[in-house]
Amino acid sequence: MTEDMNILKPFMALCLMQALPCAVRAAQPDSVYVFPYPTTNDHGRRGMQFVWSADGEHWQDVAEGMVIMRCDFGAWKYMYRPRLIQDRQDGRLHCFWDLDPEGSAIGYASSTDLIKWTPQEYFMATEQGKFAVKDGRMPVVDTVQVGDKTIAGYALKVPYRMVEGLERHGIYRSALNAQRGERAEHDAARFAGLQTVNARITVDEGRAKPISDNLIGVFFEDLNYAADGGLYAELVQNRDFEYSEADGNKDRNWNSRYAWSVEGEGMAFDVSTEQPVHPNNPHYAVLDVAQPGGGFTNTGFDGIAVKEGEKYDFSLFTRTPDGKGGGKAVVRLVDPQGKTVAETTVTLSSKTWKKREAVLKATATVAQARLVIIPQSAGRYALDMISLFPQKTFKGRKNGLRADLAQAIADIRPRFVRFPGGCLAHGDGVDNIYHWKETIGPLEARKPAANIWRYHQTRGLGYFEYFQFCEDIGAEPLPVVAAGVPCQNSGIGGPSHHSKDIVTSLGQQGGIPMEEMGQYIQDVLDLIEYANGDAKTTRWGRERAKAGHPEPFNLKYIGLGNEDLISRVFTERFTMIYEAIQAKYPDIVVIGTTGPFSEGTDYEEGWALADRLKLPMVDEHNYNTPGWFIYNQDYYDHYDRHKSKVYLGEYAAHAPGRPSNIETGLAAALFLTSVERNGDVVSMTSYAPLLAKEGHTQWRPDLIYFNNTEVKATVDYYVQQMYGQHAGNKYLPSTLTVDNRRHDVRSRVGVSVVKDGESGDLIVKLVNLLPVAVKTDVEIPSLAGHQAVGQKTVLSGRPSDTNAVPVESAMEIGEKFPYEMPAYSFTVIRIKRECK
Ligand code: AHR
Repeated sequence: MTEDMNILKPFMALCLMQALPCAVRAAQPDSVYVFPYPTTNDHGRRGMQFVWSADGEHWQDVAEGMVIMRCDFGAWKYMYRPRLIQDRQDGRLHCFWDLDPEGSAIGYASSTDLIKWTPQEYFMATEQGKFAVKDGRMPVVDTVQVGDKTIAGYALKVPYRMVEGLERHGIYRSALNAQRGERAEHDAARFAGLQTVNARITVDEGRAKPISDNLIGVFFEDLNYAADGGLYAELVQNRDFEYSEADGNKDRNWNSRYAWSVEGEGMAFDVSTEQPVHPNNPHYAVLDVAQPGGGFTNTGFDGIAVKEGEKYDFSLFTRTPDGKGGGKAVVRLVDPQGKTVAETTVTLSSKTWKKREAVLKATATVAQARLVIIPQSAGRYALDMISLFPQKTFKGRKNGLRADLAQAIADIRPRFVRFPGGCLAHGDGVDNIYHWKETIGPLEARKPAANIWRYHQTRGLGYFEYFQFCEDIGAEPLPVVAAGVPCQNSGIGGPSHHSKDIVTSLGQQGGIPMEEMGQYIQDVLDLIEYANGDAKTTRWGRERAKAGHPEPFNLKYIGLGNEDLISRVFTERFTMIYEAIQAKYPDIVVIGTTGPFSEGTDYEEGWALADRLKLPMVDEHNYNTPGWFIYNQDYYDHYDRHKSKVYLGEYAAHAPGRPSNIETGLAAALFLTSVERNGDVVSMTSYAPLLAKEGHTQWRPDLIYFNNTEVKATVDYYVQQMYGQHAGNKYLPSTLTVDNRRHDVRSRVGVSVVKDGESGDLIVKLVNLLPVAVKTDVEIPSLAGHQAVGQKTVLSGRPSDTNAVPVESAMEIGEKFPYEMPAYSFTVIRIKRECK
């Protein structure tokens, strides 16, 4: 046995070894060799490709080098030395690969056809006995020339039909990919010579069916500085001195001193952890003032934006550790030229921690002011939780939200708000799972945490504030809690952080240890009590009342898990939590998860689990190309109406460069016409992500970009807004006839008609993703005998336009009316009717 063959030893307990010629030779005419090898050429993820050979000497690509299976482990997703073993009994192919160069951890999946694979399992090399194939046909060591590379690996003999199946699958995938890759920039060539298209739409109100009235919501995640430095109105950065190297930020100054400095003479600044204001908030600043005059400065999040005439609440916790010094400090806002634009004083002397407050009124509008605290006497001062809030927060809430951003979200008219993520909800490794209890109560007692997106969460925007925001904008709260496992892309562990427990306790495959699951489940149940429990008789209801909200928040939904790997570790924990919620709160709609994609193993396994547990709803995610959305308008038409409902919790059209433009916006608008049609099975949708701060954007596209003074809505934002503001609770079937037989033409025109039960209005949505106008005759027989008034909103432009905004105007409406959909446009026609 060559040294390399040691790698196979553990898997072959009862296997018969083949001979090991230098070049392998096929013994049966109907069997060929396949040779798997890892590639890096798969969007940065390591996947497995194959070559095949009839004689073991001449090799060729399978399916033109298509990636057959990708490794899903951790953030690094490496695949080393894939090898296949075939079970002689049932023919199943078992694939093992190493997760690191040393082979200390192993990935495993199996398949009957090399196309569909079981969920991946990961284990330490020391545990591999439990995955041994009892009676397996072993691969043989071989060296194969792939392109200009010579790769050493393992070749296995399989029936040729498997290679044939892969080839067919490859052809199918290429055809799909070609459709999915269709881009508007090629429309001039694709649709050269295409004249105006004519269409006829007939609406049948008699066959109206009820649909969800919660279809449009928003997905909020603290990503791209969406919370601290974003929606959360706090203006002081690192107010708690809890920034830490452990947050993983790439800025080498990212530590408890971040954003703070001393200006002037006579003062030194240090950080201490002795007798903190609260154990959850251990770091604080100590100013050693030898001679008054110097200032302690915070630069905010890219500066502090203030407006002339507006008031700002300043507060801090302070004590004088030596009992010496004290007196007052001047607090100023200073513009970049050094001019004071607001000033007040606070008292600093106190032997024990004391909160001090003052109000600053700005005398000028400044985009990038800084905060300066100037102690007026020599001495040592401990300072923590140094905070500055505009008084004009959204709805004037204390510890509230930035008014313009919150209003932009409210203007979508979302029926629900999902929070706190996304990946943030289940965190980077088990220790980073988001625990809601750490985010409520007095700010100084909340537990800050590293953000999975590599910055810091103060938790100032915590569960209470989320619930309150939902109430303030009339949206259902939709919290998402981890299903006992962290993000499947957890970056903890991996080759560079290698430890012996890479698999079992770190990264995606770790779960909350079983002995701690009882407490975790209790925490989830307590969350429901916090939202809905009686303010007097329940412990967590009392906490809510203490925070100022005795009335329940009427929580109806809870998301359990976020696009998790549907592994054994996940399934066990998900089931335990789900059953506990069901037993105690049978009316709560628990939303399961079907992985990150609209197809594949997690999608299938997630649905299988939902079927087994009869879940009320599942959360599907679908980031895809504009082409995918154009050609998959029938995606939900075939969903079984008796199974779980769907929450399309994250989706967006992703074009190269990740813009939000007319092309991506219209692709989403077109797909949403099909979602409305399927509003009996799709209950909710939320485009993702919602917010991104300029200069701190980690993920594109987002619905709203912002800086400290501006809010910039995208084309996709307007699409959401047009759907949110013109939603209905009944779907009116319509027939759309287009005078062009081309599939690509017909697929780019969409219609949806709904009725808003409250106003009785009919709403016609029309999408045209063609470079030519579509002349439409709309017929709504049920308008006969009515006086109808129409208001149309049109969003259109060139496909690459990022600045298009909707334009509203009145239009004449009758039982039959013409409408010309402009090229590349989304139109909403709202029809009010009165009896004649
Ligand atoms: O929306 C951004 C990220 O996309 C979410 O955190 C995650 O759930 C998904 O992969």
